[in-house]
Amino acid sequence: MLIFADTANLDAIKELNDYGILDGVTTNPSLMAREGIQGRDAVLTHYRAICEEVNGPVSAEVIATDYEGMLAEGRMLHAIAENIVVKVPMTPAGIKAIATLAQEDIPTNCTLVFSPGQAILAAKAGASFVSVFMGRLDDVGHPAIETVQSIIDIYEAQGAEAMVLAASIRHPQHIIQCAEVGVDAVTAPPASIKQLFHHPLTDIGLEKFLADYRKVQQQA
Ligand code: G3P
Repeated sequence: MLIFADTANLDAIKELNDYGILDGVTTNPSLMAREGIQGRDAVLTHYRAICEEVNGPVSAEVIATDYEGMLAEGRMLHAIAENIVVKVPMTPAGIKAIATLAQEDIPTNCTLVFSPGQAILAAKAGASFVSVFMGRLDDVGHPAIETVQSIIDIYEAQGAEAMVLAASIRHPQHIIQCAEVGVDAVTAPPASIKQLFHHPLTDIGLEKFLADYRKVQQQA
């Protein structure tokens, strides 16, 4: 399972990359705003910086909502770096833009997907990644993992090439659930990824190993 960082924070991206466990990055307008990135030039410069740090796919989201606008923005974003994946919302115009970008060999990430029906259309249009928002589904009382499982089953049955990208991750348990059902990629906030490191028994165990080592050294 690929692990992407769902953040526009460069320090967090660098930290995860340094561990050697980061396969890519996803961003969205909310995450860019959180970093205080304002204006087109600043946004492009920021994407360039992320792409210099990360070799894998970096999702950059379009702001336009009309077909022509999404297409122009998508082409412009992909021109920043080879590894930019154009993130396009799940709307009729978005699906049309994904289909055109796919014909131009520009990779896309269809975002804001909440149902198997939407996922079928995204794959049909040629999206490279399909972002299923787990946290927001769980928030409204719909078990997200069931939707994710259904999409995986459909893609397998149909031989769809799109990769299932679990997004809107709220906690490490979401990441574990994703791994269990075989999602292709998960994009999570750095804090949720880093929580996977920890277990109290690991800390206690390490402390004991080191204490025993020190005891023997003192006796020597
Ligand atoms: O990648 C989409 C994701 O960032 C949305 O997450 O937490 O705003 O539901 P959230």
